[in-house]
Amino acid sequence: MRRLFPVTEETPGRTGRPGVGEAVAEAGAGGESAAREPGVAGRDRAAPGTGAVPEAGVVPGAGRVPGGGASGRPEPPEGSGWDLDELADAYAYPEAEAEAYPQAEGNRDRDRNRVRAEGAPRPSPWLRANMVSGLDGAGEHEGRSAPLSSPADMRVFGVLRALADVVIVGAGTARGEGYRPARARKAFEARRAAAGQGPAPAIAVVSASLDLDFSRPLFTEPLVPTLLVTGAAAPGDRMAAARAAGAQVVFAGAGAGVDPGEVVRALAERGHRRMLLEGGPRLLGQFVAEDALDELCLTLSPVLTAGRASRIALGPDVAVPRRFELVSVLEDDGFLFTRYRRSTEASAS
Ligand SMILES: NC(=O)c1ccc[n+]([C@@H]2O[C@H](COP(=O)([O-])OP(=O)(O)OC[C@H]3O[C@@H](n4cnc5c(N)ncnc54)[C@H](OP(=O)(O)O)[C@@H]3O)[C@@H](O)[C@H]2O)c1
Repeated sequence: MRRLFPVTEETPGRTGRPGVGEAVAEAGAGGESAAREPGVAGRDRAAPGTGAVPEAGVVPGAGRVPGGGASGRPEPPEGSGWDLDELADAYAYPEAEAEAYPQAEGNRDRDRNRVRAEGAPRPSPWLRANMVSGLDGAGEHEGRSAPLSSPADMRVFGVLRALADVVIVGAGTARGEGYRPARARKAFEARRAAAGQGPAPAIAVVSASLDLDFSRPLFTEPLVPTLLVTGAAAPGDRMAAARAAGAQVVFAGAGAGVDPGEVVRALAERGHRRMLLEGGPRLLGQFVAEDALDELCLTLSPVLTAGRASRIALGPDVAVPRRFELVSVLEDDGFLFTRYRRSTEASAS
């Protein structure tokens, strides 16, 4: 994996240790077992080796089994990627307002979705999305994102999960990809503890209907209770079933559905500041339309699929395109791992 942007002067091997752009032996995701578990999931891309986190799990045949193994996709060649610490550093969440919006001093008007602590300042919630797209904009192939993914993509996917307090996902993706609870990953144990995080992120499923199978491990076996984010008018019997299974219901809207800004606010009130949205497109589109997204980590996959695949964001039109600025680009095997942050400029003209 190579860093293309911002360009650094670092030369592979200069430090005597595997460096950026140089092969770093990594068993699966960072020294952990390379075994990939079914079910972690996220866009149906699975968590990097190890099973890491969430796992999306994807049940074999249900989508994304992280690289290799049962999926038939190739295991990452030895020494092909950054180690997990390097990736985690590269994708660290902003810890302070000034870091998040370096050019926005004195201009916080746009920050309407954030929770303001009384008195002492504290870091605002930060909503990052992680999506994969083909060269022609496809956000899925035959209903799954796995065909767009790669071992390195899954490694990044898992690192992003491991950095998050909460993983937000639309019920469509949770159902279709067979989401499972996030798991604790040894490789991130110390980092998470130092950041005041529990061993694994909570999974927050956004749903109006609550038409979910509450007997699944996502609800019955999580390390951290799974959250169901819904509106106040959600079906009472389904809420009762969710609670009986161990899930926690979070209201983020007055009707049956949720409002994206309310989702951010409600999760922040529960102490979740580092938020990761894993789609799907219908949910992401609403956050984009409401200008509630701080950052997009987009994997550009070197494939063309044509067809009628959905883009990564669908939903309400925005009057003026939301403007983002490029923060970094990594490359591995033709895949580009881009990171864009919401521009402090109002929007594209
Ligand atoms: N390219 C990628 O990175 C990526 C990532 C994720 C998924 N995908 C692909 O995207 C497809 C699935 O995505 P999708 O867009 O169809 O579904 P989705 O966004 O994951 O889920 C849609 C569902 O979320 C709930 N929802 C959405 N907005 C809501 C609101 N405002 N209030 C309450 N609930 C709300 C509803 O659930 P209820 O029906 O339960 O009310 C709705 O049916 C799959 O093909 C998957 O492979 C791709």
